Amino acid sequence: MRTLEREQALCEQNLWIRKGMDSMKNETEIIFDAISNNENFARMAVAAFVSHLNLTLDELADIKTAVSEAVTNAIIHGYENLEGYGMHGDKKPFSYARNPGKVRMCCVLDDEMLHIEVSDTGKGIENIEQAMEPLYTSRPELERSGMGFSFMEAFMDELEVESEPGKGTTVRMKKKVNAGSWIDSEE
Ligand SMILES: Nc1ncnc2c1ncn2[C@@H]1O[C@H](COP(=O)(O)OP(=O)(O)O)[C@@H](O)[C@H]1O
Ligand SMILES: [Mg+2]
Repeated sequence: MRTLEREQALCEQNLWIRKGMDSMKNETEIIFDAISNNENFARMAVAAFVSHLNLTLDELADIKTAVSEAVTNAIIHGYENLEGYGMHGDKKPFSYARNPGKVRMCCVLDDEMLHIEVSDTGKGIENIEQAMEPLYTSRPELERSGMGFSFMEAFMDELEVESEPGKGTTVRMKKKVNAGSWIDSEE
């Protein structure tokens, strides 16, 4: 196969897409156990995914915080795996799932738009509007802040929540990132 044809074949498989000279698309998907240890894994994974971009520390912190909030929600609300989560947001490493379940995180960088989708197949949300209100928490006894969705909304440009009781929850977030200025590889 000629080089160009091979590149086009790769494009069609969605592995590596070059839409034009300066337009790129890259996509990754990870699926991990719903345990508190993996909140940090998800934060690091999204940071690694955008590590070639020249993001400010603030932008990076915003993205990692939004991912943490969505993943924590999947673990503690979706699957009710509270192990490893203490009062006042304290955390200690824990790698045991009382209720086995998986969290899926999909990240797509499409030109300058970063899309992040975090989903679970846990218990779902009865009233999404109420859940998204600042300070609302269904678990006040755990001293949750009720600010998870508000942080996701504040730190990302767009937030969308889809959920069905008994089926699970999907959180979709978008943020415009400065993909135009790449960090040159030293290697
Ligand atoms: N993945 C999820 N599965 C089930 N319920 C969820 C999920 N994410 C959020 N919720 C519900 O939405 C509420 C608000 O979430 P959030 O703003 O992060 O506050 P907090 O986590 O501090 O309770 C939660 O208390 C919970 O009832
Ligand atoms: Mg939360």
